[in-house]
Amino acid sequence: MSIMFSELEKYAKENKVPIILPDGIEYIENYIKENNVKNILEIGTAIAYSAIRMCSVSDDVKVTTIERNPEMISKAKENIHKFNMEDRITIIEGDALEVEVTGNYDMIFIDAAKSQYIKFFEKYTPLLNKDGVVITDNLNFHGLRENIDNIESKNLRSMMKKLNDYIEYLKNNQSFKTTFLDIGDGLGITKRND
Ligand SMILES: C[S@@+](CC[C@H](N)C(=O)[O-])C[C@H]1O[C@@H](n2cnc3c(N)ncnc32)[C@H](O)[C@@H]1O
Repeated sequence: MSIMFSELEKYAKENKVPIILPDGIEYIENYIKENNVKNILEIGTAIAYSAIRMCSVSDDVKVTTIERNPEMISKAKENIHKFNMEDRITIIEGDALEVEVTGNYDMIFIDAAKSQYIKFFEKYTPLLNKDGVVITDNLNFHGLRENIDNIESKNLRSMMKKLNDYIEYLKNNQSFKTTFLDIGDGLGITKRND
């Protein structure tokens, strides 16, 4: 299996597809194991690398994953087929802010457009089980977040500000408690307050 993971990593690198960093996915895999996570909702499939790795933790893990880019969807389907996981990974095709998703989830993994993180959180946390967790990736954004004023690109600066807004939103959210981990590209681990 590990040879196949490395094939996906190689493809992502060669085609500049941003996938979760090794430490980040290892943390998530351990979380799934230790907390008996079964149903996962992922926002941002890309080539289905993280979906496949999460499903590989155990045969009874199921992932519903949302992706809007047709090229990514097609590659994700190919990869899911290679891993024989068609019955456990469901792709919802479309914009995560527009599609309708049902079900209840033990984990929601947010890994799509950084500028929309607050909206994703608000739209999807009603589907989170009582003891469920929201994991958000890229909160350090390649170390750029700390130096917003030095970033020349206006778009990037605006995205960084939105990412900071999300972090503040999580910190001030009375219904949820978030732990920020310096793992991978920065993970937020968010759980409901009791
Ligand atoms: C960082 S990649 C996901 C990587 C993947 N989770 C992994 O680690 O293997 C982000 C993906 O989210 C998709 N995306 C961004 N915004 C989206 C949205 N609003 N709805 C659906 N997909 C979105 C992009 O097309 C891109 O493929």
